[in-house]
Amino acid sequence: MSAPSLGPALRVALLGCGVVGSEVATLLTTHRDELASRVGAPLDLVGIAVREVSRPRAGVTGTALEALLTQDADSLVREADIVIEVMGGIEPARELLLAAIASGASVVTANKALLAQDGPTLYAAADEAGVDVYFEAAVAGAIPIIRPVRESLAGDQVERILGIVNGTTNYVLDRMASEGLDLDEVVAEAQRLGYAEADPSADVDGHDAAAKAAILASLAFHTRVSLEDVAVEGIMGLTADDIAWASRTGQVVKLLAIAERTTDGVVVRVHPALVPETHPLAGVRGAFNAVFVEASAAGELMFYGRGAGGAPTASAVLGDVVSAARHRVLGGKGPIESSYAQLPVLPASQALTRVQIRIDVQDRPGVLAKVAAVVAEHGVSIEAVRQAPVGEVAHLVVTTHAARQDALDKTVEAIRGIDVVDRVVSVLRVEGI
Ligand code: NDP
Ligand code: HSE
Repeated sequence: MSAPSLGPALRVALLGCGVVGSEVATLLTTHRDELASRVGAPLDLVGIAVREVSRPRAGVTGTALEALLTQDADSLVREADIVIEVMGGIEPARELLLAAIASGASVVTANKALLAQDGPTLYAAADEAGVDVYFEAAVAGAIPIIRPVRESLAGDQVERILGIVNGTTNYVLDRMASEGLDLDEVVAEAQRLGYAEADPSADVDGHDAAAKAAILASLAFHTRVSLEDVAVEGIMGLTADDIAWASRTGQVVKLLAIAERTTDGVVVRVHPALVPETHPLAGVRGAFNAVFVEASAAGELMFYGRGAGGAPTASAVLGDVVSAARHRVLGGKGPIESSYAQLPVLPASQALTRVQIRIDVQDRPGVLAKVAAVVAEHGVSIEAVRQAPVGEVAHLVVTTHAARQDALDKTVEAIRGIDVVDRVVSVLRVEGI
């Protein structure tokens, strides 16, 4: 069979050559012929913008790619058909992408922080210029989740998304649970492995997951959700004791991104939560991610895979590059922003959730009745109570049924004020039941 005839080469510019960018450059080079056949035209990498050209880079330094490194990102984006942005941060990434779009280039980005903060500006500019903006790698690394939510489920109604979308924190929680390691020690390990953001506080404080939650919620509910709409709690407040207690009660602790439709609007939040060991998300180990989607007709779906790291993320980037390139060769355009529904975005106090409250109480008769009475006074019902002696005090573990977050917060405050309660040791939400 003769080789398919190819159209004129497409010029590809790469912004960033770090953990992800170096893998993108390598894949573009090693799979050049295959990619050309899939697209119908060769993809010529014409330049790689970095901050410091002389920095050694695995897979780049000492290869033909080294000659493509430049500090002149501005000129590079104006001469490309497709611009790949894997530099991160808000500026200059935003200005460079807008300049690329204005020059008629399609863009592919892995930059969830930028999309969650100012995605609509990019989408509007691309729509006006008639070019594509693709961002599969921005949420959950290698896992195809943007296309399924944006395209495969476009005929259904998404009700809820429950995701482990940050590889670093999942890796950290997993290592803390399985090996009893200290949080700081494991975060440093995640950085060495290339999972963490340039500033790992974005991971541990939950902001990286919040950006991803905002992107997923916007697509799922056809509503603009930005980073500021997402209630965020990270994993820094968790203790080894929380993780040990989770295990004693048949649960694991996960940092969850939750986006759900309620009767009044949409609630989007990120926080650590207890998940029953029997739930599919509980088995997601290491830096793996998983996104559990509930849709009214499809029912439950789970998307699972590597959520961080250079090569997995580069796989998602290259998939987008092929889509954008095919449009340049064959005509057509990818999906544009869909925000027609404009559902109200509600505060997390409106979310329905359950909590597990661990309390140190005095070990005497009537304590349980007092705690139960305070919980009932706030319209919250108790699902289970466990009691364990801990030295001179007793440790109560109260799990509630589902109630609104604001009622649960008031309940916990009232419990703190009970005379026989020494202290509220921890409060963790329970999800996935
Ligand atoms: P790195 O910090 O490893 O790489 C960033 C690259 O961008 C470096 O090559 C850096 O240049 C370059 N760069 C940064 N600022 C500038 C600038 N002003 N001008 C020119 N070049 C610049 O980041 P990652 O590869 O880890 O992440 C890149 C993007 O991908 C981020 O948006 C991140 O959120 C996203 N992402 C990362 C994943 C991961 O697992 N790492 C997974 C999914 C998404 P120099 O090398 O000279 O400093
Ligand atoms: N720092 C991110 C994580 C990279 O750990 O998930 C992938 O987006």
